[in-house]
Amino acid sequence: MAGIERVLFTEQEIDSRIRQVGAEISADYAGGRLKLVGVLKGSVFFLTALARELTVPVTVDFLGISSFSNSPTAGMVSISKDLDESIEDEHVLLVEDIIDTGFTTRYLLQHLSGRGPKSLGVCTLLDRTPRRIVQIPLDYRCFEIPDRFVVGFGLDYRQLYRNLKYVAVLNPDAGD
Ligand code: IMP
Ligand code: MG
Repeated sequence: MAGIERVLFTEQEIDSRIRQVGAEISADYAGGRLKLVGVLKGSVFFLTALARELTVPVTVDFLGISSFSNSPTAGMVSISKDLDESIEDEHVLLVEDIIDTGFTTRYLLQHLSGRGPKSLGVCTLLDRTPRRIVQIPLDYRCFEIPDRFVVGFGLDYRQLYRNLKYVAVLNPDAGD
């Protein structure tokens, strides 16, 4: 496909890693019930794959966000679609597609923690640590990635490529 430079994680690698992380989460929350909170639209693909691997009772809800700028110093995020249900007294796991600078996750954690969850954890498909600016508590991570722009498995470039079954580095010169 035009624009794809190389595949970072294949469908099989992603499936198998999500199974492992799903087993870890199921063990950690055994005996309880868990609410997965996804961030539209990128994390939907990961969230549904992860949810299928969990053996504890699970509910799902979604937040929509708008980023005002790509500049990390601006780093401004706002909620464009709030959760449908209360999270008070619930075990909540925020499910992210990628954590880059950390600004988005920090904002969402502040937003969610004010609503009285019993616990609040973070799970991400991809973690790009070289670009982290704000430290955030990360409970589960499937893969660490290098400092390259990636697409697939929910991650987009101008809204495209989300439906790829693999995660790939995008070649910005190959056009879209
Ligand atoms: P942060 O606030 O810098 O951590 O940015 C996180 C958000 O930026 C993610 O939820 C993605 O929407 C977007 N993003 C960051 N890196 C990439 C990438 O490599 N591909 C696609 N989207 C990305
Ligand atoms: Mg995006």
